[in-house]
Amino acid sequence: MDSGLAPGNFSFLQQLSQSRERHIKTLTNKGKPILITGCSSGIGLCVARGLYRRGYRVIASARKGADVARLRDEGLEAVELDLDDSESIRGALEETLSLTDGRLFALFNNGAYGQPGAVEDLRRDVFRAQLETNLLGWHELTCRIIPLMRKQGEGRIIQNSSILGFTALPYRGAYNASKYALEGLTDTLRLELQGSGIHVSLIEPGPIQSRFRANALRMWQKNIDTANSVHRERYQAWAGRLEKEGPTTPFTLPPEAVLKRVIHALESPRPRIRYPVTFPTYMFAFLKRVLTSRMLDRALAATDRSPKADYRASK
Ligand SMILES: NC(=O)c1ccc[n+]([C@@H]2O[C@H](COP(=O)([O-])OP(=O)(O)OC[C@H]3O[C@@H](n4cnc5c(N)ncnc54)[C@H](OP(=O)(O)O)[C@@H]3O)[C@@H](O)[C@H]2O)c1
Repeated sequence: MDSGLAPGNFSFLQQLSQSRERHIKTLTNKGKPILITGCSSGIGLCVARGLYRRGYRVIASARKGADVARLRDEGLEAVELDLDDSESIRGALEETLSLTDGRLFALFNNGAYGQPGAVEDLRRDVFRAQLETNLLGWHELTCRIIPLMRKQGEGRIIQNSSILGFTALPYRGAYNASKYALEGLTDTLRLELQGSGIHVSLIEPGPIQSRFRANALRMWQKNIDTANSVHRERYQAWAGRLEKEGPTTPFTLPPEAVLKRVIHALESPRPRIRYPVTFPTYMFAFLKRVLTSRMLDRALAATDRSPKADYRASK
């Protein structure tokens, strides 16, 4: 009996069913509210725009009034939120919930910066500031939102971690510590939220095009006493790399690569616990499993374009 499903027809039907699925997803996402931190640039801005286009009710946050105004100008709903300031976190959440009638389907914790510098050059206040923004601010905001998600019986918390949340590199000690801590805290939180309907996912990007490097350069110049450091020469070579425009690392991807994983973490009935992004993340996750720590150190020394390597290359 002829079913009418010739191979050509079959692929047409498949396409039709996929496009119908996409359409249904867009309808189901319509209006689901999500709060995003750090939307002035880079990944946060890209994810805010991408989710808005997909039908979500995006509340984009930024810490500066001018950036909030810019986000509003392009049609997004936006609030001012500085992760270093508890009062700002409280006020931003209040404003968000007043916009969304008290509902929040998801939180994308994203706003952060990198504080470069050798571990022995990190002043206590500089190190503390890194943890305040990248870890404690996220924690405070998350803890304010969890009770609401528990009441709703559903929610998605998506943490923008990093390859540096499980791989250490020289001169990234403060940032490494903030992201390693985030990974540990998130693993514990996930266990504690079992059965609540709240899913927690970690995104682990490698190099992504954004303002991250330019902002890191600023923090390095501001906070590290390079002239009096034993690492002075290495810093000199490294400055050149931080100042360079455009990608300096192979396998750098645009922020849309992260958006794709955020969409999966929001829409999958069974979101992943970890989403590696970029080839280096996959590679080092694998190497970490199969190599001893000493072997991994050697691999990192060989692949990382650390100040030492840059310095050699510049001579
Ligand atoms: N780019 C990468 O290669 C890469 C790789 C792995 C992970 N990540 C992670 O991706 C996330 C986004 O970074 P990005 O690459 O998009 O860099 P970015 O372009 O520098 O964006 C960082 C965002 O965080 C905001 N931010 C900084 N301090 C804040 C504070 N105290 N309160 C609220 N927001 C604050 C920045 O706001 P201002 O403009 O006001 O400073 C900016 O909006 C970070 O969590 C980062 O660790 C990035």
